[in-house]
Amino acid sequence: MLLDELKDTQVQVLSEIAAAATNKDINDIRVKVFGKSGVLTTLSRGMRDVAPEERPKVGAIINEVKVAIEEALSAKQAEVENAELLSKLESEKVDITEPAQGVEKGALHPIPRVIDKLCDICVGLGFSVVEGPEVESDYYNFEAMNTPKNHPSRDMQDSFFVNEEIVLRTQTSAVQGREMEVRKPPFKIVCPGKTYRNDSDATHSPVFHQLEGLVIEEGDKVSLADLKSMLTILMKRLYGEDTEIRFRPSFFPFTEPSIEVDVSCPTCHGKGCSLCKGTGMLELLGAGIVNPKVLELSGIDSKKYRGFAFGFGLDRTAMILNSIGNIKYFYKNDKRFLEQMK
Ligand code: PHE
Repeated sequence: MLLDELKDTQVQVLSEIAAAATNKDINDIRVKVFGKSGVLTTLSRGMRDVAPEERPKVGAIINEVKVAIEEALSAKQAEVENAELLSKLESEKVDITEPAQGVEKGALHPIPRVIDKLCDICVGLGFSVVEGPEVESDYYNFEAMNTPKNHPSRDMQDSFFVNEEIVLRTQTSAVQGREMEVRKPPFKIVCPGKTYRNDSDATHSPVFHQLEGLVIEEGDKVSLADLKSMLTILMKRLYGEDTEIRFRPSFFPFTEPSIEVDVSCPTCHGKGCSLCKGTGMLELLGAGIVNPKVLELSGIDSKKYRGFAFGFGLDRTAMILNSIGNIKYFYKNDKRFLEQMK
């Protein structure tokens, strides 16, 4: 009886294995046969009732059934796994003859592009590039720049104050004081970055960009002529060798004397167009010889050292280089505009 049951179990289980189609089927069968209350486990317990002289024979047969089932299970498992692999390969097949979709390439925004270009030119002229905070103290933005509280020139810049002492920097000139305090002259630095003023029209945005340049040298090595020649080189490298440059006297509290610099309009080459409002020239930057008071405020001996500084509007530069009539385009994130700027 036990032997008959064993034989029947073998036939039954082998046919179930033959019908199995997934790994789960195979596992279910394994549990059903070999599990704690599996068929074969239960049958094996029947050995207790077998006469001692029969036991070796019955034991051998239980073993045969067990081996036959195990072999059938592992053969089936290999078959199922192979089939699964094949169907996975089939479903993941790549049609290498299908035309490619193409990758949309991004590009740098025009403002960081101008920053990169100017920094490259300035590094070529021996400058180091530094950065400063956008949320700045009133001290560095104004006072260290010889613009004490209630100084009328504060009106030149419509500032966003966070509180009495903290302001969104209105000019990258704010880094001048910071750098003069920690650097030992002589040094040459440029600082590009965001600046903020309460001003908004076709050519002004409340957030805009400037690049500040500062050169501090021993007194006899710096003059207005050096500043003019440095700015001429910069402008020509930026806008092209045939660019004309015009210097005009101006006023900034932190430079004395102060100048403003215009360049011939690269769109119409001085003839007059809508970009230069018919004047043929474009106002580009402020500059000057660093006011000795500014040096002293930052702990630099103004009898020994002298410096010059310049500050560019970078949005304006990017507008001119790309012939763009309205600064707002830079801040709208309109993909069609950015695509044209690539
Ligand atoms: N900070 C000035 C401005 O924003 C520009 C400037 C920089 C002028 C350095 C002189 C020297 O208008």
